[in-house]
Amino acid sequence: MNKQKLNFPEEFWWGSAWSAEQAEGRGETGKAETVWERWYSEQPTRFYNRVSSEITTDHIHRYEDDIQLMKQTGHNSFRVSISWARMFPNGGERAVNPAAIAFYRDLFSKMNQEGIKVFANLYHFDMPAAMQDKGGWESRDVVEAYVHFATTCFDHFGDLVYHWFTSNEPLGPILGSYLEDFHYPNIVDFKRGAQAAFFTVLAHAKIIERFKEKKLSGKIGVILNLSPTFPRSQNPADVKAAEIADLFYTRSFLDPMVKGEFPQKLVDLLRKYEQLPNDYTSEDLACIKENTAQILGLNYYEPRRVKARMSAVNEMGPFLPEWFFENHIMPGRKMNEYRGWEIYEKGIYDLCMDIKNNYGNIEAFISENGMGVANEERFMDEAGQVIDEYRIDFIKDHLAYLWKAIQEGANIKGYHLWTFIDCWSWINAYKNRYGLVSLDLDTQKRTIKKSGEFYKQLSDENGFEYDVDYLV
Ligand code: BG6
Repeated sequence: MNKQKLNFPEEFWWGSAWSAEQAEGRGETGKAETVWERWYSEQPTRFYNRVSSEITTDHIHRYEDDIQLMKQTGHNSFRVSISWARMFPNGGERAVNPAAIAFYRDLFSKMNQEGIKVFANLYHFDMPAAMQDKGGWESRDVVEAYVHFATTCFDHFGDLVYHWFTSNEPLGPILGSYLEDFHYPNIVDFKRGAQAAFFTVLAHAKIIERFKEKKLSGKIGVILNLSPTFPRSQNPADVKAAEIADLFYTRSFLDPMVKGEFPQKLVDLLRKYEQLPNDYTSEDLACIKENTAQILGLNYYEPRRVKARMSAVNEMGPFLPEWFFENHIMPGRKMNEYRGWEIYEKGIYDLCMDIKNNYGNIEAFISENGMGVANEERFMDEAGQVIDEYRIDFIKDHLAYLWKAIQEGANIKGYHLWTFIDCWSWINAYKNRYGLVSLDLDTQKRTIKKSGEFYKQLSDENGFEYDVDYLV
């Protein structure tokens, strides 16, 4: 036993994150239909308990009280996303919505008044359906409409936002919409996905170009979901499998968005299998090269473990990354069974050291990390508070490895939990709860969980006591 206080750097960002579609609710400002609303209207049974994004956590009506809850749970910073569909209720373009501007300006002003820095993300899976009808991320016109939306946000909120982000987990919509059937419009077609991915990267670069022209304060970057990749063994076939999985899932967005270049090995592989996008120009590549992220958000939930394929590929089936590897279920792994994700705390350290060693130690922070648990009412005490010791342990165990990475020189400026108040988890709706604050879906009553009290103390003390012998 070697307990010591783990102190974090001064002015460390303690906070959490969520997104517009998952927390705001539709409200009365006017808002275009999003792809999530469209999908729900077509296939409501794909959503857990048939709960849509119509109301979610009703933040649009309750944001003033919610800001007080942020303070009570120790937030000095908070990430929101700005809804493109709310800003442009005609379908993602044409006239900007004064009611949306008023809402976000009031929210951001009040957060600032309470000493909570605004981290504003511009895209979190919530494409206006009318934009999807034009081709979504496969369309250059949609990229231009998105750049217009982003520029409009800079003009209206530039004085209130601390740091900006061009997108949250751009890999997510590619996997979900083009490979794995968990996002609308449920296409399975790698080559189209590659085109959409390329235009997402291009949109990121174009927005950064505009941001620099506007000379706004703060920085602009991107938030990526990154999992360190581990081969099952050092057998060369396993190592090769891990290298290819890492190219598809980690380096695909990280390299162009932070270094300005796509990994050559990935380009060569996609060329060999005729999966490169059709539409790209040398001007596009120059724009990507010149406009890279100034800050990086790291979403870390689970490691990626892979092994060499044990069976032959069905070449009559659609091309997929899994042609080159299989996922490996490591014996003895620790699981969050509710979400089906492995819990591997040291992965946060591995990830931060990768960014330090291979990406110029760019300024970064943990932009999401968290634990979704089903049926949390089981853990309520008589007063109705969720006693979520498991979440407190989860946070501490990850933070200890984050602390270790910082001791070893990683340029990590903060930690944001997923999430603040329980919010809507896409097709899982409200099955798994992630918040520091619980939500009664029937009454919208909010109650701070035990983890919310812990988080306040953590933020006030800028650290916590931990048995460092536990760190390996
Ligand atoms: C992140 C996303 O990948 O994971 C969030 O940015 C999401 O939007 C979170 O809610 C947790 O995943 P899920 O699917 O359980 O909600």
